[in-house]
Amino acid sequence: MNLLKGKKYNIITFGCQMNEHDSETIAGMLQEKGCIPVLTKEESDITIINTCSVRENADKRFFGTLGQLKKIKEKNPEYVACVCGCMMQQQHIIDTIKSKYPWVDIIFGTHNIDRFPELLDKVTREKVKALEILEDRSDIIEGLPAKRLYKHKSFVNIMYGCNNFCTYCIVPYTRGREKSRKPEHIVDEIRRLVADDVKEVTLLGQNVNSYSGTFDDGSRCDFADLIYLINDIEGLERIRFMTSHPKDLSDKLIQAFVDCRKLCKYIHLPVQSGSSSVLSRMNRKYDREKYLALVEKLRKSVPEITISTDIIVGFPGETEEEFEDTLTLVETVGYDSAFTFLYSIRTGTPAAEYDDQIPEEVKHDRFNRLVDAVNEGSAHRNAAYEGRIEKVLVEGTSKKDDNTLTGRTDGFKLVDFQGDSSLIGQIVDVQITEGKTFSLKGRIVE
Ligand code: SAH
Ligand code: SF4
Ligand code: F3S
Repeated sequence: MNLLKGKKYNIITFGCQMNEHDSETIAGMLQEKGCIPVLTKEESDITIINTCSVRENADKRFFGTLGQLKKIKEKNPEYVACVCGCMMQQQHIIDTIKSKYPWVDIIFGTHNIDRFPELLDKVTREKVKALEILEDRSDIIEGLPAKRLYKHKSFVNIMYGCNNFCTYCIVPYTRGREKSRKPEHIVDEIRRLVADDVKEVTLLGQNVNSYSGTFDDGSRCDFADLIYLINDIEGLERIRFMTSHPKDLSDKLIQAFVDCRKLCKYIHLPVQSGSSSVLSRMNRKYDREKYLALVEKLRKSVPEITISTDIIVGFPGETEEEFEDTLTLVETVGYDSAFTFLYSIRTGTPAAEYDDQIPEEVKHDRFNRLVDAVNEGSAHRNAAYEGRIEKVLVEGTSKKDDNTLTGRTDGFKLVDFQGDSSLIGQIVDVQITEGKTFSLKGRIVE
């Protein structure tokens, strides 16, 4: 008998698109077992917290949420509390959970998501706990179901893991080494998505530029080859990807932007710092000059390209001068948008051991100055869109008002405009009437 049928579940997701997509897979597996999604953990029989460990405040938020599950468990003895994701790949976290949060029933990691239904079944049936994670494995599990968050766009993993070991970053330890899916598997998955109304796919990987797939006949497929293949899929409208490491961005990929109509002219190209000495201490394997030259090359070949980035302030040893190099780089590049982060010590990474950590107040002061520079740049770039006509994929209605639609331009800019919800899922022409700091306003052109 299927004891899981009819059980209500709620997934709480922290972290990046990898985690969001893993949560879609978890939802897909649960729905195959007959479980039903609910909006809050309080209404659920099964809660799954999918964790991120990239910065300390993600850790803190997780433990706060985990504490709240105790009450639910006390009210409902059948309740199953599950935790998974990147934090679970760290032994010290598992030890803390075991000793301080005994109401947790299931722990699984980033390498054994596929086993979750089996663990859940066992825990429900035998009233035991399942607190196991798995070390990095060499195989890739194909064919897991997924319940998409959006009807018309979808994430598609093309690779897993990271080999780069930037000195501040925990991801290579939580996600293991790089593994690329086979191109045939990726193309088949996208074909199925398109048959199910998907117009836009975002290819996911920690560093998609180092994708290295092998066809059934043994020949190689690099990231640019993969884009050309996907560009030929009938019915698909848009291709995006996340994230690009500047050290591996090839001329061949830049050419793909020129040749492939469906490849959106947008790139997220994390710089992390504008100072060559900091970049070297971060083990990023490029310097300021190389990064700026890359941006120039991209803009020369693809003039309309929009560029976003990630920046860390207060990396150990960062001097005022080094920080100012970041400010001038931001001005020079002119980013469309940027995610800015305060450096956060991650136990187990090399930079956590550096003894020249930056005082909190210095970090915060630099952070505020950086955010001002970034916002000024974004406002300036967005203002330049006023009057232009952009192709927008309509994603939904605005939270505030049903007659306001929201969508993204090819360059990933968020646009609000008046229109009917029957347009959701279509690509429409929108004339931009106002460029604000974080989004655009427009009107549909008949
Ligand atoms: N693979 C992606 C990034 C994944 S993590 C890439 O290399 O582009 C997302 C972002 O979090 C990073 O780009 C970095 O800016 C930030 N980040 C990672 N570790 C951090 C830390 N210890 N402190 C602050 N920010 C961090
Ligand atoms: Fe982390 Fe660097 Fe890998 Fe990105 S490339 S996931 S920042 S180690
Ligand atoms: Fe966080 Fe893991 Fe993504 S650490 S940023 S959820 S890969």
